[in-house]
Amino acid sequence: MNQDELKQAVAHAALAYVVEDSIVGVGTGSTARMFIKALSGMKDRITGAVASSEDTRKRLEGHGIRVFDLNEVSELPVYIDGADEINPGLHMIKGGGGALTREKIIAAVAKTFVCIADESKRVNVLGAFPLPIEVIPMATAHVARAMVDLGGSPVLREGFRTDNGNLILDVHGLQIVDPVGLETRINHIVGVVSNGLFARRPADICLLGTYSGVQVLSAH
Ligand code: A5P
Repeated sequence: MNQDELKQAVAHAALAYVVEDSIVGVGTGSTARMFIKALSGMKDRITGAVASSEDTRKRLEGHGIRVFDLNEVSELPVYIDGADEINPGLHMIKGGGGALTREKIIAAVAKTFVCIADESKRVNVLGAFPLPIEVIPMATAHVARAMVDLGGSPVLREGFRTDNGNLILDVHGLQIVDPVGLETRINHIVGVVSNGLFARRPADICLLGTYSGVQVLSAH
Protein backbone atom coordinates (compact mmCIF):
# COMPACT_ATOMS: atom_id res chain seq x y z
CA MET A 1 0.00 0.00 0.00
CA ASN A 2 1.26 3.51 -0.79
CA GLN A 3 0.20 6.89 0.56
CA ASP A 4 -2.39 7.38 -2.19
CA GLU A 5 -3.98 4.04 -1.33
CA LEU A 6 -4.20 5.10 2.33
CA LYS A 7 -5.94 8.30 1.20
CA GLN A 8 -8.30 6.26 -1.00
CA ALA A 9 -9.16 4.05 1.95
CA VAL A 10 -10.14 6.97 4.20
CA ALA A 11 -11.96 8.72 1.36
CA HIS A 12 -14.16 5.65 0.95
CA ALA A 13 -14.57 5.15 4.70
CA ALA A 14 -15.90 8.71 4.95
CA LEU A 15 -18.94 7.80 2.84
CA ALA A 16 -20.38 6.09 5.93
CA TYR A 17 -20.60 9.53 7.61
CA VAL A 18 -22.53 11.20 4.77
CA VAL A 19 -26.13 11.78 5.80
CA GLU A 20 -28.53 10.79 3.02
CA ASP A 21 -30.87 13.46 1.62
CA SER A 22 -28.73 16.21 3.09
CA ILE A 23 -26.07 18.65 1.96
CA VAL A 24 -22.48 17.63 2.66
CA GLY A 25 -19.55 20.00 3.23
CA VAL A 26 -16.57 19.09 1.07
CA GLY A 27 -12.95 20.08 1.67
CA THR A 28 -9.97 20.75 -0.57
CA GLY A 29 -6.77 18.87 -1.36
CA SER A 30 -5.72 15.50 -2.69
CA THR A 31 -7.58 13.44 -0.06
CA ALA A 32 -10.73 15.53 -0.52
CA ARG A 33 -10.45 14.99 -4.28
CA MET A 34 -10.57 11.24 -3.70
CA PHE A 35 -13.57 11.75 -1.46
CA ILE A 36 -15.34 13.72 -4.22
CA LYS A 37 -14.84 10.82 -6.60
CA ALA A 38 -16.20 8.39 -4.02
CA LEU A 39 -19.13 10.70 -3.26
CA SER A 40 -20.10 10.78 -6.93
CA GLY A 41 -21.07 7.13 -6.54
CA MET A 42 -23.85 8.12 -4.14
CA LYS A 43 -24.81 11.46 -5.70
CA ASP A 44 -28.44 10.39 -6.16
CA ARG A 45 -28.73 9.89 -2.40
CA ILE A 46 -27.61 13.38 -1.34
CA THR A 47 -29.22 16.78 -1.90
CA GLY A 48 -25.89 18.35 -2.83
CA ALA A 49 -22.73 19.85 -1.39
CA VAL A 50 -21.08 23.05 -0.27
CA ALA A 51 -17.53 23.55 -1.50
CA SER A 52 -14.52 24.91 0.40
CA SER A 53 -12.78 26.17 -2.74
CA GLU A 54 -13.34 26.95 -6.39
CA ASP A 55 -11.36 23.84 -7.30
CA THR A 56 -13.68 21.67 -5.20
CA ARG A 57 -16.76 23.39 -6.62
CA LYS A 58 -15.65 22.65 -10.18
CA ARG A 59 -14.86 19.03 -9.36
CA LEU A 60 -18.20 18.47 -7.62
CA GLU A 61 -20.10 20.01 -10.52
CA GLY A 62 -18.01 17.97 -12.94
CA HIS A 63 -19.37 14.87 -11.23
CA GLY A 64 -22.94 16.16 -11.50
CA ILE A 65 -23.25 17.05 -7.80
CA ARG A 66 -25.25 20.20 -7.16
CA VAL A 67 -23.24 22.85 -5.26
CA PHE A 68 -25.04 25.20 -2.88
CA ASP A 69 -23.88 28.58 -1.61
CA LEU A 70 -23.32 28.23 2.16
CA ASN A 71 -25.73 31.12 2.74
CA GLU A 72 -28.56 29.04 1.27
CA VAL A 73 -27.96 26.25 3.75
CA SER A 74 -29.40 26.26 7.24
CA GLU A 75 -28.03 22.89 8.34
CA LEU A 76 -24.88 21.04 7.49
CA PRO A 77 -24.73 17.67 9.25
CA VAL A 78 -21.19 16.83 8.18
CA TYR A 79 -18.02 18.36 6.74
CA ILE A 80 -15.36 16.06 5.32
CA ASP A 81 -11.84 17.36 4.67
CA GLY A 82 -8.16 16.50 4.88
CA ALA A 83 -5.43 18.00 7.05
CA ASP A 84 -1.74 18.77 6.84
CA GLU A 85 -1.14 17.74 10.47
CA ILE A 86 -3.41 16.41 13.22
CA ASN A 87 -2.61 15.92 16.91
CA PRO A 88 -4.21 13.65 19.55
CA GLY A 89 -6.73 16.42 20.43
CA LEU A 90 -7.76 16.43 16.74
CA HIS A 91 -6.43 19.97 16.42
CA MET A 92 -5.12 20.45 12.91
CA ILE A 93 -2.94 22.53 10.67
CA LYS A 94 -4.73 23.06 7.37
CA GLY A 95 -4.32 25.33 4.39
CA GLY A 96 -1.54 23.63 2.47
CA GLY A 97 -3.80 24.12 -0.53
CA GLY A 98 -4.57 27.71 0.49
CA ALA A 99 -8.29 27.13 1.10
CA LEU A 100 -8.13 27.57 4.89
CA THR A 101 -10.59 30.44 5.25
CA ARG A 102 -13.47 28.82 3.40
CA GLU A 103 -12.63 25.52 5.07
CA LYS A 104 -12.82 27.15 8.48
CA ILE A 105 -16.16 28.78 7.69
CA ILE A 106 -17.70 25.49 6.61
CA ALA A 107 -16.21 23.71 9.63
CA ALA A 108 -17.85 26.32 11.87
CA VAL A 109 -21.27 25.64 10.37
CA ALA A 110 -21.04 21.86 10.25
CA LYS A 111 -22.38 19.75 13.07
CA THR A 112 -19.69 17.09 12.63
CA PHE A 113 -16.22 17.55 11.16
CA VAL A 114 -14.72 14.33 9.84
CA CYS A 115 -11.02 14.63 9.05
CA ILE A 116 -9.65 12.17 6.51
CA ALA A 117 -5.89 11.73 6.54
CA ASP A 118 -3.16 9.22 5.97
CA GLU A 119 -0.96 8.35 8.94
CA SER A 120 1.88 10.66 7.83
CA LYS A 121 -0.30 13.55 9.06
CA ARG A 122 -0.43 12.35 12.68
CA VAL A 123 1.87 14.30 15.04
CA ASN A 124 2.10 14.90 18.77
CA VAL A 125 2.98 18.58 18.46
CA LEU A 126 1.78 20.71 15.54
CA GLY A 127 4.19 22.95 13.67
CA ALA A 128 6.61 20.92 11.56
CA PHE A 129 4.28 21.72 8.66
CA PRO A 130 4.51 25.49 8.08
CA LEU A 131 1.40 27.23 9.40
CA PRO A 132 -0.50 29.02 6.59
CA ILE A 133 -1.97 32.44 7.34
CA GLU A 134 -4.25 34.22 4.87
CA VAL A 135 -3.54 37.96 4.93
CA ILE A 136 -4.96 41.09 3.36
CA PRO A 137 -2.18 42.05 0.89
CA MET A 138 -1.40 45.49 2.38
CA ALA A 139 -0.92 43.90 5.82
CA THR A 140 1.59 41.25 4.74
CA ALA A 141 4.71 42.90 6.20
CA HIS A 142 2.90 43.83 9.41
CA VAL A 143 1.61 40.27 9.93
CA ALA A 144 5.03 38.84 9.06
CA ARG A 145 6.68 41.01 11.75
CA ALA A 146 4.07 39.94 14.29
CA MET A 147 4.72 36.28 13.48
CA VAL A 148 8.46 36.78 13.97
CA ASP A 149 7.60 38.20 17.42
CA LEU A 150 5.69 34.97 18.07
CA GLY A 151 8.80 32.92 17.23
CA GLY A 152 8.03 31.97 13.63
CA SER A 153 9.75 32.46 10.28
CA PRO A 154 7.14 33.61 7.77
CA VAL A 155 7.60 33.02 4.05
CA LEU A 156 5.32 34.54 1.43
CA ARG A 157 3.75 31.87 -0.81
CA GLU A 158 5.11 33.05 -4.16
CA GLY A 159 2.73 33.51 -7.08
CA PHE A 160 -0.32 32.45 -5.10
CA ARG A 161 -3.63 34.20 -4.46
CA THR A 162 -6.45 32.64 -2.45
CA ASP A 163 -9.97 32.27 -3.85
CA ASN A 164 -10.68 35.42 -1.81
CA GLY A 165 -7.94 37.43 -3.57
CA ASN A 166 -5.56 37.46 -0.60
CA LEU A 167 -1.98 36.28 0.09
CA ILE A 168 -0.63 33.42 2.18
CA LEU A 169 2.26 33.55 4.64
CA ASP A 170 3.62 30.09 5.49
CA VAL A 171 5.12 30.30 8.96
CA HIS A 172 7.98 27.90 9.64
CA GLY A 173 9.66 26.98 12.88
CA LEU A 174 6.71 26.96 15.27
CA GLN A 175 6.32 24.32 17.97
CA ILE A 176 2.66 24.69 18.77
CA VAL A 177 2.11 23.45 22.31
CA ASP A 178 -1.03 25.57 22.86
CA PRO A 179 -2.96 25.40 19.57
CA VAL A 180 -6.11 27.10 20.91
CA GLY A 181 -4.11 29.98 22.42
CA LEU A 182 -1.98 30.51 19.32
CA GLU A 183 -4.98 30.37 16.98
CA THR A 184 -6.64 33.10 19.04
CA ARG A 185 -3.51 35.28 19.21
CA ILE A 186 -2.96 35.12 15.46
CA ASN A 187 -6.60 35.93 14.79
CA HIS A 188 -6.09 39.16 16.75
CA ILE A 189 -3.32 40.45 14.47
CA VAL A 190 -4.85 43.16 12.28
CA GLY A 191 -4.78 42.14 8.63
CA VAL A 192 -5.09 38.40 9.28
CA VAL A 193 -8.10 36.93 7.50
CA SER A 194 -7.71 33.52 9.12
CA ASN A 195 -4.99 31.10 10.12
CA GLY A 196 -4.56 27.41 9.42
CA LEU A 197 -4.84 26.29 13.03
CA PHE A 198 -8.12 24.43 13.46
CA ALA A 199 -8.07 24.11 17.25
CA ARG A 200 -10.96 26.18 18.57
CA ARG A 201 -13.09 24.04 16.28
CA PRO A 202 -11.17 20.76 15.98
CA ALA A 203 -12.30 17.68 14.08
CA ASP A 204 -14.86 15.51 15.84
CA ILE A 205 -13.58 12.33 14.23
CA CYS A 206 -10.44 11.47 12.32
CA LEU A 207 -10.39 8.59 9.87
CA LEU A 208 -6.70 7.79 9.78
CA GLY A 209 -5.36 5.61 6.99
CA THR A 210 -2.68 3.29 8.35
CA TYR A 211 -0.90 0.29 6.91
CA SER A 212 -2.98 -1.93 9.18
CA GLY A 213 -6.34 -0.39 8.21
CA VAL A 214 -8.48 2.70 8.78
CA GLN A 215 -8.47 3.83 12.42
CA VAL A 216 -11.32 5.92 13.81
CA LEU A 217 -9.92 8.50 16.25
CA SER A 218 -11.83 10.84 18.51
CA ALA A 219 -10.32 13.57 20.66
CA HIS A 220 -8.70 12.75 23.98
C1 A5P B 1 -6.34 22.69 1.78
O1 A5P B 1 -6.26 24.07 1.92
C2 A5P B 1 -5.88 21.99 2.99
O2 A5P B 1 -6.41 22.39 4.18
C3 A5P B 1 -5.99 20.49 2.84
O3 A5P B 1 -7.06 19.96 3.55
C4 A5P B 1 -4.75 19.92 3.36
O4 A5P B 1 -3.69 20.63 2.75
C5 A5P B 1 -4.62 18.43 3.11
O5 A5P B 1 -4.33 18.19 1.77
P1 A5P B 1 -3.99 16.75 1.22
O6 A5P B 1 -5.22 15.93 1.36
O7 A5P B 1 -3.63 17.02 -0.22
O8 A5P B 1 -2.83 16.24 2.00
